[in-house]
Amino acid sequence: MKTLAILSRKGGTRKTTLATNLAVTAEMAGQATVLFDLDPQSSAAKCGDRRE
Ligand SMILES: Nc1ncnc2c1ncn2[C@@H]1O[C@H](COP(=O)(O)OP(=O)(O)OP(=O)(O)O)[C@@H](O)[C@H]1O
Ligand SMILES: [Mg+2]
Repeated sequence: MKTLAILSRKGGTRKTTLATNLAVTAEMAGQATVLFDLDPQSSAAKCGDRRE
C-alpha cells in the first residue's frame, strides 16, 4: 500500500487540487484508493460528494 501526504503550510498552493486529481487518477487506473481530508474546510470531501 502506498501512502501520499500532500503538505504545505502556505495556503492556496493547490494541495487539495493535487490530492483529488491523484486520487481520481489512481482510482481510474484500477487502484483501490482512499482520500482522507483532515482540513476543516473539507474541500476534498465536498469534491468527492459531488462526483459519482
Ligand atoms: N490549474 C489551475 N488553474 C487555475 N486555478 C486553479 C488550478 N488549480 C487549482 N486552482 C484554484 O486554485 C485555488 C487553490 O487551490 P486548492 O484549493 O487546491 O489549494 P489548497 O492548497 O488546497 O488551499 P488551502 O490552503 O485553502 O487548503 C482554488 O480556487 C482552485 O480552484
Ligand atoms: Mg485545501
